[in-house]
Amino acid sequence: SQDPLVIFTPSGKRGHFPVGTPILTAARQLGVDLDSVCGGRGICSKCQVTPSFGEFPKHGVTVEEGALSEWNKVEQRYDDIRGLPKGRRLGCQATVQGDVVVDVPPESQVHKQVVRKRAEARDITLDPVVKLYYVEVEEPDMHEPSGDLERLVTALEEQWEIKGVRADLHILSTLQPCLRKGEWKVTVAVHLGDEENPPRVMHVWPGYHEGTVYGMAVDLGSTTIAAHLCDMSTGEVVASSGLMNPQIRFGEDLMSRVSYSMMNSDGAQEMTTAVREGMDALFTQIAADAEIDKSLIMDVVVVCNPVMHHLFLGIDPFELGQAPFALATSDAMRLRASDVDLSIHPLARLYMLPCIAGHVGADAAAVALSEAPDKSEDLVLVVDVGTNAEILLGDKEGVLACSSPTGPAFEGAQISAGQRAAPGAIERVEINPVTKEPRFRVIGSDIWSDEDGFAAATAVSGVTGICGSGIIEVIAEMRMAGLVDAGGLIGSTEQTGTDRCFADGRTNAYRLWDGDEDQKPITVTNGDIRAIQMAKAALYSGARLLMDKRGVDNVDRVVLAGAFGAHISAKHAMVLGMIPDCPLDKVTSAGNAAGTGARIALLNRAARAEIEDTVRKITKIETAVEAKFQEHFVNASAMPNSSDPFPILRT
Ligand code: FES
Repeated sequence: SQDPLVIFTPSGKRGHFPVGTPILTAARQLGVDLDSVCGGRGICSKCQVTPSFGEFPKHGVTVEEGALSEWNKVEQRYDDIRGLPKGRRLGCQATVQGDVVVDVPPESQVHKQVVRKRAEARDITLDPVVKLYYVEVEEPDMHEPSGDLERLVTALEEQWEIKGVRADLHILSTLQPCLRKGEWKVTVAVHLGDEENPPRVMHVWPGYHEGTVYGMAVDLGSTTIAAHLCDMSTGEVVASSGLMNPQIRFGEDLMSRVSYSMMNSDGAQEMTTAVREGMDALFTQIAADAEIDKSLIMDVVVVCNPVMHHLFLGIDPFELGQAPFALATSDAMRLRASDVDLSIHPLARLYMLPCIAGHVGADAAAVALSEAPDKSEDLVLVVDVGTNAEILLGDKEGVLACSSPTGPAFEGAQISAGQRAAPGAIERVEINPVTKEPRFRVIGSDIWSDEDGFAAATAVSGVTGICGSGIIEVIAEMRMAGLVDAGGLIGSTEQTGTDRCFADGRTNAYRLWDGDEDQKPITVTNGDIRAIQMAKAALYSGARLLMDKRGVDNVDRVVLAGAFGAHISAKHAMVLGMIPDCPLDKVTSAGNAAGTGARIALLNRAARAEIEDTVRKITKIETAVEAKFQEHFVNASAMPNSSDPFPILRT
């Protein structure tokens, strides 16, 4: 008669196996995702499964008690020491005795899905580049002399099918005592390598090592450095923190840093040292917060814009400051973390995503990895707004990219009452279209002001200014209330019927908040509107240029990435004509998509080759040399803008 049938859930994979076959072996043969660090020796308990009994009409089997071998000594010992949850068996110990249905719980899957807070464009499948393996190494034999390392390499190959593992001197100095202390059983952290590098031993622990190893995903911005410490065996973010980029003292924006490096012979070097020291200090702080040993951090992924990319690597960004904006290299970088002075594990590696073009950096590549426009069925426009807007447009047929110089107005700079997003800043505004009276809400409070601004003013430390999302809302609301014309001019008291609009030199201004004893009133001036018009025109014309190249007048959906994108209201952005016309429910926010992209590249090694391939295929558009860009820019300064249709907006 036929061998017993083994069915795995949730995968549904099935096959017949001889009586006595361990479940782990059956899983391996069927390609079922069942974890194991100890290689079936009953030590790691990663292989836990839950057998089910009873009738399974769907699978056409009835499972009887006794379909699996009895609880054995190894399981008993494991249960005595650490406890095995009720109903669970060790897959490497339980053997097939009859037809059986075996469930693989999520925590026993090797390629588990990393839990993410919201539905995002892609899931992260855990498959990090550094993993732990338990091996039993042959003891040395006088009659067949070979080195301890060679026998470790053979064990990794035979027990784990990892071929050609190399080891640095650092490992050799600890290997012999470890092997002897662990009685020829050791746990090895292996960096699995990539196109350029063979697999490498990163660390050796005697015996079975219970712990885990860590990686760091870094979003290196011009203003802040943000890093997430991730557990490489669960994919969880264990701790996160951010730090002001210490390069700020050399220039607030990127171009002033490029000119600092041109003006000072050691300028680039000083900035390189500053950013590396900053990142190292941030790592130290995060490791301390998480109470882990910094030397357990074995892999780092960094995403950043091209200027930061060069300054971090120690390359003078001079060429990026002038046409044709040539990068030293646009390829992904694979380095030792010690090459950039990070004091984590001495053999830790560092991966930087590829840059897309001279103005479109590894941060935009990370956004592409996270939002996957290249896999989209419908045509998606992804914009990451900062001092530069990085714009991607595409679908499965192809992706185009450009960057557009929006300037800092969206961050509240160049705005008379503008400030960074912080408590006290006005972030939400409504203007009554009949009375023209405003209500607003400030960051740090969930109370809307009454028409005198009273509640918001008293809710926190007062009203201190307007942040980027607030300025967009107030201008869009002013436009909808008929206080501003399409050209961006604020009406007079007579024209608008409210004394909130008043003469301000040769133009008019709008009083958003009356002020109190401590704070000056907050007004929106024509200059403010002008600055936002310029910024939004730059953003819109970049998007429009890509749409021209693609030959379309509309996009199916819009994704707003970045901190700014997370706070801005889609309706107000569209009223201003910042983004092309599109149904409002098709405008979504992706949060910090660049940071998410860094985390994907950290936790899934295949994602690295994938994004390198995607970036090679992206069509790069340089806005500076496109005559059409200027034309669009002029048209796009009107609200929404003077030449393109916004049919959905009008309805
Ligand atoms: Fe390690 Fe079963 S594989 S305990």
